[in-house]
Amino acid sequence: MAMVCLSDFEAYAKKYLPKTAWDFFAAGADDCSTRDENILAYKRIRFRPRMLRDVSVMDIRTKLLGTEISFPVGIAPTGFHQLAWPDGEKSTARAAKAMNICYVASTYSTCTLQEIAAAAPDGLRWFQLYIHRNRAVSRQLVQQAEALGFQGLVLTADLPYTGKRRDDVRNGFCLPPHMKLKNLEGAFEVCKNEPYGLPPNSLDPSVTWNDIYWLQSLTRLPIIIKGILTKEDAELAVRHGVQAIIVSNHGGRQLDGGPATIDALVEVVEAVQGRVEVYLDGGIRKGSDVLKALALGAKCVFIGRPALWGLAYKGEEGLQDVLRILQDEFRLSMALAG
Ligand code: FNR
Repeated sequence: MAMVCLSDFEAYAKKYLPKTAWDFFAAGADDCSTRDENILAYKRIRFRPRMLRDVSVMDIRTKLLGTEISFPVGIAPTGFHQLAWPDGEKSTARAAKAMNICYVASTYSTCTLQEIAAAAPDGLRWFQLYIHRNRAVSRQLVQQAEALGFQGLVLTADLPYTGKRRDDVRNGFCLPPHMKLKNLEGAFEVCKNEPYGLPPNSLDPSVTWNDIYWLQSLTRLPIIIKGILTKEDAELAVRHGVQAIIVSNHGGRQLDGGPATIDALVEVVEAVQGRVEVYLDGGIRKGSDVLKALALGAKCVFIGRPALWGLAYKGEEGLQDVLRILQDEFRLSMALAG
Protein backbone atom coordinates (compact mmCIF):
# COMPACT_ATOMS: atom_id res chain seq x y z
CA MET A 1 0.00 0.00 0.00
CA ALA A 2 1.46 3.38 -1.03
CA MET A 3 1.50 5.74 1.96
CA VAL A 4 0.71 9.12 0.47
CA CYS A 5 -0.93 11.11 3.24
CA LEU A 6 -1.50 10.81 6.98
CA SER A 7 -4.96 9.26 6.51
CA ASP A 8 -3.26 6.27 4.88
CA PHE A 9 -1.43 5.64 8.15
CA GLU A 10 -4.67 6.07 10.06
CA ALA A 11 -6.36 3.45 7.86
CA TYR A 12 -3.42 1.08 8.34
CA ALA A 13 -3.46 1.51 12.13
CA LYS A 14 -7.20 0.98 12.29
CA LYS A 15 -6.90 -2.22 10.27
CA TYR A 16 -3.93 -3.79 12.06
CA LEU A 17 -3.96 -2.60 15.68
CA PRO A 18 -5.94 -4.61 18.23
CA LYS A 19 -9.36 -2.98 18.58
CA THR A 20 -8.83 -1.89 22.17
CA ALA A 21 -5.56 -0.13 21.27
CA TRP A 22 -7.09 1.55 18.21
CA ASP A 23 -10.10 2.68 20.25
CA PHE A 24 -7.84 4.06 22.98
CA PHE A 25 -5.80 6.09 20.46
CA ALA A 26 -8.87 7.31 18.59
CA ALA A 27 -10.99 8.10 21.63
CA GLY A 28 -12.49 11.48 22.31
CA ALA A 29 -14.57 12.47 25.32
CA ASP A 30 -18.32 11.92 25.38
CA ASP A 31 -19.69 12.15 21.85
CA CYS A 32 -16.36 13.34 20.43
CA SER A 33 -17.64 16.68 19.16
CA THR A 34 -14.49 18.58 20.15
CA ARG A 35 -12.23 15.85 18.77
CA ASP A 36 -14.01 16.05 15.42
CA GLU A 37 -14.23 19.84 15.50
CA ASN A 38 -10.42 20.05 15.75
CA ILE A 39 -10.31 18.63 12.23
CA LEU A 40 -13.41 20.24 10.73
CA ALA A 41 -12.27 23.71 11.78
CA TYR A 42 -9.26 23.54 9.44
CA LYS A 43 -11.57 22.87 6.51
CA ARG A 44 -13.42 26.14 7.14
CA ILE A 45 -10.23 28.22 6.98
CA ARG A 46 -9.19 29.34 3.50
CA PHE A 47 -5.93 30.82 2.26
CA ARG A 48 -5.52 34.11 0.40
CA PRO A 49 -2.70 32.89 -1.83
CA ARG A 50 -0.29 35.35 -3.47
CA MET A 51 1.42 34.74 -6.80
CA LEU A 52 4.75 35.42 -8.53
CA ARG A 53 6.78 35.69 -5.35
CA ASP A 54 9.83 33.54 -6.21
CA VAL A 55 9.36 30.45 -4.10
CA SER A 56 12.36 28.65 -5.57
CA VAL A 57 14.22 28.73 -2.25
CA MET A 58 12.44 28.23 1.05
CA ASP A 59 13.67 27.91 4.59
CA ILE A 60 11.26 25.97 6.80
CA ARG A 61 13.49 25.73 9.85
CA THR A 62 12.47 27.45 13.06
CA LYS A 63 13.47 27.64 16.71
CA LEU A 64 11.74 26.33 19.81
CA LEU A 65 12.86 28.36 22.82
CA GLY A 66 16.14 29.00 21.05
CA THR A 67 16.80 25.48 19.73
CA GLU A 68 16.67 25.00 15.98
CA ILE A 69 14.34 22.38 14.50
CA SER A 70 14.05 21.33 10.87
CA PHE A 71 10.42 22.36 10.44
CA PRO A 72 7.67 23.61 12.75
CA VAL A 73 6.16 20.27 13.76
CA GLY A 74 6.86 18.31 16.94
CA ILE A 75 5.53 15.17 18.61
CA ALA A 76 2.88 15.82 21.26
CA PRO A 77 3.02 13.74 24.44
CA THR A 78 0.93 10.60 24.19
CA GLY A 79 1.01 7.63 26.53
CA PHE A 80 1.62 3.94 25.93
CA HIS A 81 3.64 3.86 22.70
CA GLN A 82 4.27 0.15 23.15
CA LEU A 83 0.62 -0.36 22.27
CA ALA A 84 1.62 0.80 18.78
CA TRP A 85 5.12 -0.68 18.45
CA PRO A 86 7.20 -2.99 20.66
CA ASP A 87 10.08 -0.54 21.08
CA GLY A 88 7.61 2.13 22.13
CA GLU A 89 8.95 5.56 23.03
CA LYS A 90 12.52 4.58 22.13
CA SER A 91 11.43 4.44 18.49
CA THR A 92 9.64 7.75 18.84
CA ALA A 93 12.74 9.40 20.25
CA ARG A 94 14.90 8.03 17.44
CA ALA A 95 12.50 9.17 14.72
CA ALA A 96 12.28 12.67 16.20
CA LYS A 97 16.04 12.89 16.40
CA ALA A 98 16.46 11.67 12.82
CA MET A 99 14.05 14.39 11.65
CA ASN A 100 15.58 17.00 13.96
CA ILE A 101 12.33 17.93 15.67
CA CYS A 102 11.10 18.06 19.27
CA TYR A 103 9.65 15.01 21.02
CA VAL A 104 7.61 15.56 24.17
CA ALA A 105 7.75 12.35 26.22
CA SER A 106 4.67 11.62 28.34
CA THR A 107 4.61 10.86 32.05
CA TYR A 108 2.68 7.78 30.92
CA SER A 109 5.46 6.37 28.76
CA THR A 110 6.00 2.64 28.53
CA CYS A 111 9.79 3.18 28.48
CA THR A 112 11.75 4.88 31.24
CA LEU A 113 13.08 8.40 30.79
CA GLN A 114 16.58 6.86 30.85
CA GLU A 115 15.72 4.55 27.96
CA ILE A 116 14.21 7.42 25.98
CA ALA A 117 17.25 9.62 26.59
CA ALA A 118 19.64 6.82 25.67
CA ALA A 119 17.74 6.09 22.44
CA ALA A 120 18.42 9.59 21.13
CA PRO A 121 20.99 11.17 23.42
CA ASP A 122 21.35 14.49 21.62
CA GLY A 123 17.79 14.82 20.33
CA LEU A 124 15.59 17.71 21.42
CA ARG A 125 13.35 16.21 24.11
CA TRP A 126 10.89 17.78 26.50
CA PHE A 127 9.23 15.97 29.39
CA GLN A 128 5.46 16.20 29.92
CA LEU A 129 4.30 16.15 33.50
CA TYR A 130 1.04 15.16 35.11
CA ILE A 131 1.13 16.24 38.74
CA HIS A 132 0.21 13.36 41.04
CA ARG A 133 -1.10 13.62 44.58
CA ASN A 134 2.16 12.04 45.62
CA ARG A 135 4.19 15.17 44.97
CA ALA A 136 7.46 13.43 45.76
CA VAL A 137 6.94 11.26 42.68
CA SER A 138 6.32 14.27 40.47
CA ARG A 139 9.28 16.13 41.92
CA GLN A 140 11.54 13.18 41.31
CA LEU A 141 10.41 12.83 37.69
CA VAL A 142 11.03 16.51 36.96
CA GLN A 143 14.49 16.38 38.45
CA GLN A 144 15.30 13.15 36.69
CA ALA A 145 14.21 14.60 33.35
CA GLU A 146 16.43 17.62 33.86
CA ALA A 147 19.40 15.44 34.83
CA LEU A 148 18.86 13.29 31.71
CA GLY A 149 19.09 16.26 29.37
CA PHE A 150 15.42 16.88 28.65
CA GLN A 151 15.30 20.55 27.73
CA GLY A 152 11.79 21.60 28.64
CA LEU A 153 9.05 20.76 31.13
CA VAL A 154 5.55 20.60 29.69
CA LEU A 155 2.86 20.86 32.35
CA THR A 156 -0.45 19.45 31.13
CA ALA A 157 -3.16 21.59 32.69
CA ASP A 158 -6.33 20.07 31.28
CA LEU A 159 -6.46 16.73 33.08
CA PRO A 160 -7.42 17.10 36.74
CA TYR A 161 -9.47 13.99 36.04
CA THR A 162 -9.49 11.79 32.96
CA GLY A 163 -12.25 12.60 30.46
CA LYS A 164 -14.98 10.06 29.82
CA ARG A 165 -14.01 8.10 26.73
CA ARG A 166 -16.89 5.80 26.01
CA ASP A 167 -15.09 3.16 23.97
CA ASP A 168 -12.43 2.74 26.66
CA VAL A 169 -15.20 2.22 29.21
CA ARG A 170 -16.99 -0.26 26.95
CA ASN A 171 -13.77 -2.15 26.22
CA GLY A 172 -12.68 -2.11 29.85
CA PHE A 173 -9.42 -0.73 28.48
CA CYS A 174 -6.36 -1.78 30.50
CA LEU A 175 -2.68 -1.74 29.74
CA PRO A 176 -1.67 -5.30 28.72
CA PRO A 177 0.15 -7.05 31.59
CA HIS A 178 3.58 -7.02 29.88
CA MET A 179 3.50 -3.21 29.54
CA LYS A 180 4.21 -0.90 32.42
CA LEU A 181 4.08 2.79 33.11
CA LYS A 182 7.79 2.62 33.53
CA ASN A 183 8.28 6.05 35.06
CA LEU A 184 5.83 5.34 37.83
CA GLU A 185 6.91 1.81 38.65
CA GLY A 186 7.20 1.37 42.35
CA ALA A 187 5.60 4.75 42.99
CA PHE A 188 2.12 3.33 43.41
CA GLU A 189 0.62 -0.02 44.11
CA VAL A 190 -0.06 -1.86 40.88
CA CYS A 191 -3.75 -1.70 40.04
CA LYS A 192 -4.38 -4.43 37.53
CA ASN A 193 -7.91 -3.56 36.59
CA GLU A 194 -7.54 0.19 36.42
CA PRO A 195 -7.34 1.60 32.89
CA TYR A 196 -3.86 3.04 33.26
CA GLY A 197 -2.55 0.70 35.89
CA LEU A 198 -2.69 3.52 38.43
CA PRO A 199 -4.84 3.93 41.50
CA PRO A 200 -8.06 5.75 40.49
CA ASN A 201 -7.26 8.95 42.34
CA SER A 202 -3.55 9.25 41.76
CA LEU A 203 -3.73 12.53 39.81
CA ASP A 204 -3.87 15.70 41.86
CA PRO A 205 -7.03 17.63 40.95
CA SER A 206 -6.15 20.45 43.36
CA VAL A 207 -3.39 21.86 41.12
CA THR A 208 -3.58 25.65 40.65
CA TRP A 209 -1.50 28.41 39.07
CA ASN A 210 0.53 28.57 42.29
CA ASP A 211 1.96 25.18 41.45
CA ILE A 212 3.87 26.79 38.60
CA TYR A 213 5.94 28.45 41.33
CA TRP A 214 6.43 25.03 42.92
CA LEU A 215 7.72 23.65 39.62
CA GLN A 216 9.99 26.65 39.17
CA SER A 217 11.46 25.91 42.57
CA LEU A 218 12.28 22.35 41.45
CA THR A 219 13.91 22.98 38.10
CA ARG A 220 15.69 25.44 35.91
CA LEU A 221 14.02 23.97 32.82
CA PRO A 222 11.72 26.26 30.85
CA ILE A 223 8.08 25.54 31.64
CA ILE A 224 5.62 25.12 28.80
CA ILE A 225 1.96 24.94 29.78
CA LYS A 226 -0.26 22.70 27.71
CA GLY A 227 -4.03 22.88 27.49
CA ILE A 228 -4.71 26.64 27.34
CA LEU A 229 -7.77 27.71 25.33
CA THR A 230 -8.66 31.23 26.50
CA LYS A 231 -7.13 34.70 26.65
CA GLU A 232 -7.68 34.79 30.42
CA ASP A 233 -5.60 31.67 31.02
CA ALA A 234 -3.01 32.81 28.49
CA GLU A 235 -2.56 36.02 30.50
CA LEU A 236 -2.27 34.04 33.74
CA ALA A 237 0.30 31.76 32.15
CA VAL A 238 2.44 34.72 31.13
CA ARG A 239 2.07 36.33 34.57
CA HIS A 240 3.20 33.14 36.25
CA GLY A 241 6.38 33.13 34.25
CA VAL A 242 5.96 30.20 31.87
CA GLN A 243 8.12 30.31 28.75
CA ALA A 244 5.56 28.96 26.27
CA ILE A 245 1.94 27.92 25.83
CA ILE A 246 0.51 24.97 23.93
CA VAL A 247 -3.04 25.70 22.82
CA SER A 248 -4.58 22.26 23.20
CA ASN A 249 -7.79 20.48 24.14
CA HIS A 250 -6.00 17.15 24.58
CA GLY A 251 -7.15 16.00 21.16
CA GLY A 252 -10.77 16.34 22.33
CA ARG A 253 -10.26 13.71 25.03
CA GLN A 254 -11.09 15.89 28.03
CA LEU A 255 -13.91 18.46 28.03
CA ASP A 256 -16.25 17.78 25.14
CA GLY A 257 -17.88 20.94 23.83
CA GLY A 258 -14.86 23.20 23.95
CA PRO A 259 -13.50 24.97 20.88
CA ALA A 260 -11.31 23.56 18.15
CA THR A 261 -7.75 24.51 18.99
CA ILE A 262 -7.24 26.36 15.70
CA ASP A 263 -10.22 28.56 16.65
CA ALA A 264 -8.89 29.20 20.17
CA LEU A 265 -5.42 30.03 18.88
CA VAL A 266 -6.25 33.54 17.72
CA GLU A 267 -7.38 34.86 21.11
CA VAL A 268 -4.40 33.30 22.86
CA VAL A 269 -1.94 34.78 20.38
CA GLU A 270 -3.60 38.20 20.72
CA ALA A 271 -3.49 38.07 24.51
CA VAL A 272 0.12 36.99 24.68
CA GLN A 273 1.41 39.71 22.34
CA GLY A 274 4.68 37.91 21.69
CA ARG A 275 5.68 37.72 25.38
CA VAL A 276 5.95 33.91 25.22
CA GLU A 277 5.99 31.43 22.37
CA VAL A 278 2.62 29.92 21.41
CA TYR A 279 2.26 26.44 19.93
CA LEU A 280 -0.80 24.36 19.09
CA ASP A 281 -1.85 20.75 18.86
CA GLY A 282 -5.05 19.00 17.78
CA GLY A 283 -6.27 17.98 14.35
CA ILE A 284 -3.09 18.56 12.36
CA ARG A 285 -3.37 16.07 9.50
CA LYS A 286 -1.87 17.89 6.49
CA GLY A 287 0.94 20.28 5.70
CA SER A 288 -1.62 22.95 4.90
CA ASP A 289 -3.01 22.63 8.45
CA VAL A 290 0.47 23.44 9.75
CA LEU A 291 0.60 26.49 7.50
CA LYS A 292 -2.83 27.67 8.68
CA ALA A 293 -1.76 27.41 12.32
CA LEU A 294 1.44 29.33 11.63
CA ALA A 295 -0.45 31.97 9.66
CA LEU A 296 -2.72 32.44 12.70
CA GLY A 297 0.23 32.95 15.02
CA ALA A 298 1.54 29.57 16.22
CA LYS A 299 5.30 29.17 16.25
CA CYS A 300 5.09 25.39 15.94
CA VAL A 301 2.48 22.63 16.02
CA PHE A 302 2.53 19.16 17.53
CA ILE A 303 0.96 15.91 16.33
CA GLY A 304 -0.56 13.33 18.67
CA ARG A 305 -2.46 10.52 16.94
CA PRO A 306 -0.63 10.71 13.57
CA ALA A 307 2.62 9.89 15.37
CA LEU A 308 0.99 6.79 16.86
CA TRP A 309 -0.27 5.73 13.42
CA GLY A 310 3.28 6.08 12.06
CA LEU A 311 4.61 3.91 14.89
CA ALA A 312 1.88 1.34 14.30
CA TYR A 313 2.85 1.19 10.63
CA LYS A 314 6.61 0.59 10.98
CA GLY A 315 7.94 1.91 14.26
CA GLU A 316 10.65 4.50 13.95
CA GLU A 317 10.64 4.28 10.14
CA GLY A 318 6.88 4.66 9.94
CA LEU A 319 6.97 7.73 12.17
CA GLN A 320 9.70 9.22 10.01
CA ASP A 321 7.50 8.59 6.97
CA VAL A 322 4.65 10.49 8.64
CA LEU A 323 6.94 13.39 9.48
CA ARG A 324 8.49 13.49 6.01
CA ILE A 325 5.08 13.58 4.36
CA LEU A 326 4.00 16.41 6.64
CA GLN A 327 7.24 18.26 5.94
CA ASP A 328 6.87 17.90 2.15
CA GLU A 329 3.23 18.94 2.25
CA PHE A 330 4.07 21.93 4.43
CA ARG A 331 6.81 23.06 2.08
CA LEU A 332 4.53 22.67 -0.93
CA SER A 333 1.66 24.57 0.72
CA MET A 334 4.01 27.40 1.61
CA ALA A 335 5.20 27.64 -1.96
CA LEU A 336 1.71 27.52 -3.44
CA ALA A 337 0.45 30.11 -0.97
CA GLY A 338 3.26 32.47 -2.02
C1 FNR B 1 -2.88 12.05 24.35
N1 FNR B 1 -2.56 13.30 24.87
C2 FNR B 1 -1.76 13.38 25.98
N2 FNR B 1 -1.38 14.60 26.47
C3 FNR B 1 -0.56 14.69 27.51
O1 FNR B 1 -0.23 15.81 27.92
N3 FNR B 1 -0.07 13.56 28.12
C4 FNR B 1 -0.40 12.32 27.72
O2 FNR B 1 0.06 11.33 28.26
C5 FNR B 1 -1.31 12.21 26.63
N4 FNR B 1 -1.70 10.99 26.20
C6 FNR B 1 -2.43 10.88 25.03
C7 FNR B 1 -2.72 9.62 24.52
C8 FNR B 1 -3.40 9.51 23.32
C9 FNR B 1 -3.68 8.15 22.76
C10 FNR B 1 -3.83 10.67 22.63
C11 FNR B 1 -4.55 10.58 21.29
C12 FNR B 1 -3.56 11.92 23.15
C13 FNR B 1 -2.96 14.53 24.15
C14 FNR B 1 -1.91 14.90 23.09
O3 FNR B 1 -0.75 15.41 23.69
C15 FNR B 1 -2.41 15.97 22.13
O4 FNR B 1 -2.92 17.06 22.85
C16 FNR B 1 -3.46 15.50 21.14
O5 FNR B 1 -3.25 14.16 20.77
C17 FNR B 1 -3.41 16.35 19.88
O6 FNR B 1 -4.41 16.01 19.00
P1 FNR B 1 -4.20 15.06 17.70
O7 FNR B 1 -2.92 15.47 17.02
O8 FNR B 1 -4.18 13.68 18.21
O9 FNR B 1 -5.42 15.39 16.90
